[in-house]
Amino acid sequence: MELVQRPRRLRGNEILRKMVRETRMDKSSLIYPMFVQEGNNGKEEIHSMPGQYRYSVDCMEEKLVELCDAGVRSVMLFGIPDRKDELGSGAYAQDGIVQKAFRKAKQVCPDLYLIGDVCMCEYTSHGHCGVLCGQEVDNDRTLELLAKTALSQVQAGADMVAPSDMMDGRVACIRRILDQNGYENTPIMSYAVKFASSFYGPFREAADSAPSFGDRKSYQMDYHNRREARKEALLDVAEGADILMVKPAMAYGDLIREIKDCTDVPMAAYSVSGEYSMVKAAARAGFIDEERVMCEMAAGAYRAGADLYISYFAGELAKCMDDGRIG
Ligand code: PBG
Repeated sequence: MELVQRPRRLRGNEILRKMVRETRMDKSSLIYPMFVQEGNNGKEEIHSMPGQYRYSVDCMEEKLVELCDAGVRSVMLFGIPDRKDELGSGAYAQDGIVQKAFRKAKQVCPDLYLIGDVCMCEYTSHGHCGVLCGQEVDNDRTLELLAKTALSQVQAGADMVAPSDMMDGRVACIRRILDQNGYENTPIMSYAVKFASSFYGPFREAADSAPSFGDRKSYQMDYHNRREARKEALLDVAEGADILMVKPAMAYGDLIREIKDCTDVPMAAYSVSGEYSMVKAAARAGFIDEERVMCEMAAGAYRAGADLYISYFAGELAKCMDDGRIG
């Protein structure tokens, strides 16, 4: 058979395959999301996320050191308070759980880059991402509290803040308060393109943050929409976002690419709790190979255009990158 082009020529050997590989990944782009809770009772496994834990502040160190040793240099912290109230006051309390965790993490692992998830749903008694006016989340009153939350996290040691609430105008509001307090060099990574997704189910169990009534569809995006994703992304850049995020990652590769192509800022993709839990559950049942699927999902996000990858598998991915199983 006379064939000029035989694409298989470049696939015949592992060295060659790696030479011509188009997507290259690096451990320095990994971010690990971590849950911290009150108390001194060590770590508590999250039922729907086997291998993931809620850590008490006195028990974070071991995990942080393990991540550092594996080459994961950035952690995103989520606080789970003991008490929740209507105004989510634990989110911006000086001695709030996540503020304590930032102080501790800075002290025990000063070389780690710390990111604060800025939202209210873990802290409000009703589980919504802002303060309520009747049954509605009040956008503009929430902005003030989000800005206070971001500032308190930075004062406690966060190197970057990542608002995930989806209120309109929050990036501008957070930028303003940080600048007014001398933190003009602290970056904002905006969860700009965040969908109302059922993939967050296990996270809500982990953080006990499911809304007590209704859903998040009046602030998180409708997953049928693509042009709206561009609109959100461009607005956040105009408001001062330094990095944009698309979330979830796995079913949203088209949007990672779309936003990458229409903006000039680094792109982050968040492979969320439900993605992790599905891989774990299917692997436990013997239906898939956990490690290979994990690597393939990560490569998919990077190939789509992600520069940063937030994943509960960050530690394991770093090891696979070291071994050359991925990258
Ligand atoms: C807070 C927040 C959520 C996640 C990240 N920040 C939950 C939500 O919006 O309901 C989800 C992360 C995950 O599922 O891993 N708003």
